Formats: sequence, structure tokens, C-alpha cells
Amino acid sequence: MEALLREMEAYAEENHVPIIRDRGRLAYIETVKQAQPCQVLEVGAAIGYSGLLAAMYGAPGLRLDAIEHNAGRVEAARRFWGRTPYAGQLQVILGDATELLSKWRRPEGGYDFVFLDAAKGQYADYFRLVLPLLADTALVVADNVLFRGYVRGKGPIPHRFRTIAMRLREYLALTSTTPGCSTEIVKCGDGLAVTTVRKDERFAAKQA
Ligand SMILES: C[S@@+](CC[C@H](N)C(=O)[O-])C[C@H]1O[C@@H](n2cnc3c(N)ncnc32)[C@H](O)[C@@H]1O
Repeated sequence: MEALLREMEAYAEENHVPIIRDRGRLAYIETVKQAQPCQVLEVGAAIGYSGLLAAMYGAPGLRLDAIEHNAGRVEAARRFWGRTPYAGQLQVILGDATELLSKWRRPEGGYDFVFLDAAKGQYADYFRLVLPLLADTALVVADNVLFRGYVRGKGPIPHRFRTIAMRLREYLALTSTTPGCSTEIVKCGDGLAVTTVRKDERFAAKQA
């Protein structure tokens, strides 16, 4: 599998596809290893690299549903996955994440792990849409939440990055204040937000 991962990394490099790399990749693998998810939803699959890592390090037999709006990347993901023993467990659906998630059906038992890695400005919307799709206890992991240091930093933010930095701040506030949710930020690479969602606490807060 390592040779295939190297091939995917080279493909991503040649075709300018942003995939999870370096320290972000290690933190992602560590999170998956510890959580041992069975049912994963990925928003922003690209060529299937992080999806393959989930299959390699998650629970045996893990199933992954992924969303990607770039047709070429969807094809590449299917081609790469087709060369692995996980092919039957991984599927990617072509389309816009917000549109698809608005009508997505919750699988039996719900998703116990969600990886948000598509449009950073939409993370808060994705989070609201995936909440009803989750298992009783789930992790929602979001990549790049510190966005070049502009999200938590006190310094000036270049004009072109202001909206995205504000939206990521909104995401971090949302995932820390929603009942039943607590968020930890792994400060590696561009920052990985790991939110634990517990449904019983959400219901208790609603009824209080
Ligand atoms: C950072 S890449 C994902 C990398 C992948 N998770 C990995 O590490 O291997 C983000 C992907 O999200 C896709 N994307 C961006 N906006 C999207 C949207 N609105 N709906 C679906 N996919 C989207 C992009 O085409 C891109 O391939």
C-alpha cells in the first residue's frame, strides 16, 4: 500500500491537487488510529488519498462515503481505490457538498467519523448539515482550521484572507458552543480541529 500512497502523492504534486501532507497527515492518521471509526463521511475527497488512509488505519471493514465536486478527481479516486483491497468499502459521489448533504440519508447507526476538507468557508454549514447524520458518539475532524496562523493570531489579516479567517473562527466557535460538542485543536500543519459530538448531551441540553 505504501507504493500506491507514494504514487498518489506524486500524482497530486504533478496535477496540483491539495492532499493532506506532512504533519497534518500524521495527526490525521493518529486521530483515525485512536478513534477506530467504522462508518466515515468525507467532505472533499480529491483523489481519495485521505480516504485510503482512513481505510488503512480505521476499524477493519470500515465503510467510507465521500463527496467531491471535481469529476477528474472523482475518477482518479475510484481508479486508485480500485487497486486496493478496500475498493468495495469506499465510495465517492460527484457533486457539490452543501447540495448533497442537504438531502443525504443517515446510514443505519450514523457516521462515527466525519472529515471536513472541502471549502473552508463552508465548514460551519457542513457541520450543521452533518450533525443529524452522526452516530450517538462521533468525531468531526476539520483540516486547515488555523489557516496560515490567521484564525487564532492577533496580527493583521491580509484583505484576501479575511472572509475565510472569519468563517473558520465562526466554525471553531460553533463546534465549541453547540450542546454535546467539545473541540480540541491539534496544532500541526495548518491545524486540525477534532470535535467530539455526544448525542445524549445534546438532547439533555435541549430539554433543560
Ligand atoms: C484539500 S482537498 C481534499 C484532500 C483530501 N481530503 C485528501 O487529503 O486526500 C479539497 C477538495 O474539496 C473539493 N471541494 C471544494 N469545494 C467543494 C464543494 N463545494 N463540494 C464538493 N467538493 C468540494 C475540491 O475539489 C478538492 O478536491
